[in-house]
Amino acid sequence: MKILVINGVNLNMLGKRETELYGSESLNDLEKKLSELNYDVELEFFQSNSEEEIINKIHTQKEENYHCGIFNFGAHTHTNISIRDAILAVNFPFYEVHISNVFAREEFRHTSFFSDIALGCIVGLGFDGYEFALTKIVRGKNGS
Ligand code: DQA
Repeated sequence: MKILVINGVNLNMLGKRETELYGSESLNDLEKKLSELNYDVELEFFQSNSEEEIINKIHTQKEENYHCGIFNFGAHTHTNISIRDAILAVNFPFYEVHISNVFAREEFRHTSFFSDIALGCIVGLGFDGYEFALTKIVRGKNGS
C-alpha cells in the first residue's frame, strides 16, 4: 500500500527554524526515520511551500490511489480552504500531524481546516506523531 506524507509550508526548514518548538532534526531526518521503520508499505514524501503544488499533488490521488495520507500543512492548517477542498474532491483519507502542541500556542493555531475531515489528529508529540500515524495506518482502522 502507498502512503503519501505531505509536509507543507516552511517544513523544509525543520532543524533550522524555531528549534525550541520543532527540534533540531531536519525534514530529511524525519523521512529517514519513517523509512527505517521498515513497514511493508511504499512511502512517498512530498514537501512544498506552494499551495498550488500541494493541491496538484493531492489531486493525483485519482490516478495514484494512495491508501492513506499523513499531512502536516504547517500554517496552511489554520488558513487554507482550497487544500481542504482538494482533499474532499478526491476523497483522500488522512491523518493530521503537528510537531508542536498547537493548542498550547497562539489562539489562531487552535483552529484547523482539516481536523474534522481527518481520520485522526496527533499534535505535540514531535516527529513521533508521524511514526504513530504511520503505525496506525499499518495496523488498520480497527487494529490495536
Ligand atoms: C505546525 C504548527 C503550525 O501552527 C505552524 O504554522 C507550522 C508547524 C507543527 O507541525 O507544529 O508551521 O504545523
